[in-house]
Amino acid sequence: MYIFGMESSCDETSAAVIHADEAGNLTIRSNIVASQVDVHRLYGGVVPEIASRAHVEAVSRITREALDTAGITVADLDCVAVTANPGLIGALLVGVNFAKSFAYANKIPLVAVNHIHAHVGAAYLTHQGLKAPYIALVVSGGHTQFYRVDTDTKYTEIGGTRDDAAGESFDKVGRVIGMPYPGGAALDKLAYEGNPKAYALPSPALAGDSPDFSFSGIKTAALNLINGASQRGEQINAADMAASYTDTIVKGIVKQTEKVLISTGTKVLVMAGGVAANSHLRRALQGLCDKHKVTLVVPPISLCGDNGAMVAAAGYFAFMDGERAGTDLNASAYD
Ligand code: KG4
Ligand code: ZN
Repeated sequence: MYIFGMESSCDETSAAVIHADEAGNLTIRSNIVASQVDVHRLYGGVVPEIASRAHVEAVSRITREALDTAGITVADLDCVAVTANPGLIGALLVGVNFAKSFAYANKIPLVAVNHIHAHVGAAYLTHQGLKAPYIALVVSGGHTQFYRVDTDTKYTEIGGTRDDAAGESFDKVGRVIGMPYPGGAALDKLAYEGNPKAYALPSPALAGDSPDFSFSGIKTAALNLINGASQRGEQINAADMAASYTDTIVKGIVKQTEKVLISTGTKVLVMAGGVAANSHLRRALQGLCDKHKVTLVVPPISLCGDNGAMVAAAGYFAFMDGERAGTDLNASAYD
């Protein structure tokens, strides 16, 4: 069967077609991403109204492109999956309303997908044997959470950030040290050129048994160091800050993940989301999983950021579970 996936929760409009065989193996047939990053870069972050407008402009074109690239027609589609929450409400509404009309007009079943589940869904596209139960760590621009995934559609949050997300904090510090938006990927590279011990920063990992995080403290500490230096007419070393910041965040995530691995006794850990592209984090988490003899599953970097194929993958499992959305489907900014 063919599943169409539509993603518009933030600053990426994406349409994709995936194929599921009888055994449930998922393969990507097309995955078209229209990124708005260049537009938002002018403002140093995502401007919601501009994002909604750009989604409207891109949505029909990329849908056509996704079908053409997959070499199929609308009649071949068995399911339309769309991100319905969480995200920017105006941005989500564009995708949801498009998908509703597209599904209704062509008499194709519609399923609503949670964006976090979709990030995890990306892992099934390249790891065919993956099957719940497992633990998922979603690290993105808006989320840093642990989930117990009992079935391929049943997620229970078991910990996570109490304030900012890892990606958001990378972007904020990246901006202040002069990286273009979004700073995460640039900070990843710059960190190789600096000394990770140059600046002492507070860990985002909460102490004790808690697997939770707080990224606001480390973010404020870094901003205070940068601003304090500039008030004295000095400049911090950007590479040293990138290295210290990345190192502290990666160590904090590893520490909390270790608590979760031990407390749950899981044998499989899936890491997903935009920040899962971070090379330092990928390496460190692999080391942790090797130590605990846990299989680490991480999507390739090309599928870590927002894309339609991951929505189609999560949509496939929801569809197989019998979930269906009607024309009354609404978007929600919340999880
Ligand atoms: O999952 P995503 O595309 O969107 C959300 O659902 O939030 O994640 C975007 C986030 C941004 O904060 C971006 O800076 C971050 O992922 N990111 C990275 C890297 N690549 C993207 N953060 C750290 N290292 C990277 N290599
Ligand atoms: Zn995302």
